[in-house]
Amino acid sequence: MKKRVGILTSGGDCPGLNATLRGVAKALYQRMGENVELIGISNGYAGLINGDWRVMEPHEFSGILTVGGTILGTKRTPFKLMRVVEEDQVDKVAAMKKNYQEMKLDCLLCLGGNGTHKTANLLAEEGLNIIALPKTIDNDIFGTDVTFGFHSAMEIATEAIDRVHTTAGSHSRCMVVELMGNKAGWLTLYAGIAGGADIILIPELPYTIENVCAAIERRAAQGKHFSILAVAEGAMDAKEARMKRKERMAKRAEQGYTTATNRIARQIEALTGIETRICVPGHMQRGGSPCPYDRVLATQFGSYAAKMVEDGNYGVTVAMKNNHVGENRLKDVAGKSRLVPEGHGMLEVARRMGISVG
Ligand code: F6P
Repeated sequence: MKKRVGILTSGGDCPGLNATLRGVAKALYQRMGENVELIGISNGYAGLINGDWRVMEPHEFSGILTVGGTILGTKRTPFKLMRVVEEDQVDKVAAMKKNYQEMKLDCLLCLGGNGTHKTANLLAEEGLNIIALPKTIDNDIFGTDVTFGFHSAMEIATEAIDRVHTTAGSHSRCMVVELMGNKAGWLTLYAGIAGGADIILIPELPYTIENVCAAIERRAAQGKHFSILAVAEGAMDAKEARMKRKERMAKRAEQGYTTATNRIARQIEALTGIETRICVPGHMQRGGSPCPYDRVLATQFGSYAAKMVEDGNYGVTVAMKNNHVGENRLKDVAGKSRLVPEGHGMLEVARRMGISVG
């Protein structure tokens, strides 16, 4: 019996989505030949709600290993609104179930991050056959050691830190590099170490500006008249950490900023007298070709998912555990996230290297 397999990419894009689509498709066609048909759903869950889908041809998955973005398109459809009927009067969950039936799917593959996993779990609870694959540059999906997209973003973020080193040195300045990561600091921590940052600030460890400036002044006293700060966009000081998110955001909006980096730069100048500049690589961290590590990971994850389809192993998400590709039950991981815990080995490495972590 032919299997009809739906596939979608949801949430923020990242390098490696196409490589994963290709991994899934090639392995499926290889294993099941004429006995499988892939249905591409456009723009994530939005396409599943609106019935925006098409039967894919095998050739569409060729030549995309190295291509950034996603050939299916993606969109953020917040999980918290999935059960909320908005102005358009659409019952989203009912619409997704109806379209799943209309497409005559045997299963649906959902490539995405934490939000995507929550909706994937919801659909599994509603009785659909779901397989998820963990994507995100934030590397914060519970139950997997790594997600595809993370290593590519780390390379880009590291290059940004590398490049500001010379200009910081030439001008005897501090450079504050703002990296992506609202709740999770993995990208900043790893890129900061890879790029030789002097100070790393992540959301999980609130900083004090006094500690930050003390680290800069210690370097200056050693004759190092420049410093590089790798700062996650979600970094916050100890005072902000005591506030509710809404209150924190309102306070920042009052100051005219959305992230801490501008304020950090101003405070460094005021407290140390060292000229300071900001660099925000932003969405560049999500753009372009996946690095070789992510291409391999995408192919490992994709081909593993193909085997799950063949075996009818549903309600699960693919995971990397201690260098082995495996899986987790969606219900065990959905709604949890993997943040940098105090005492994590990489924080210890940073501290041993004399890097200030706030
Ligand atoms: O989840 C990935 C991510 O890049 C986060 O690091 C960042 O906070 C967010 O997405 C940005 O989202 P958007 O592309 O919607 O601005």
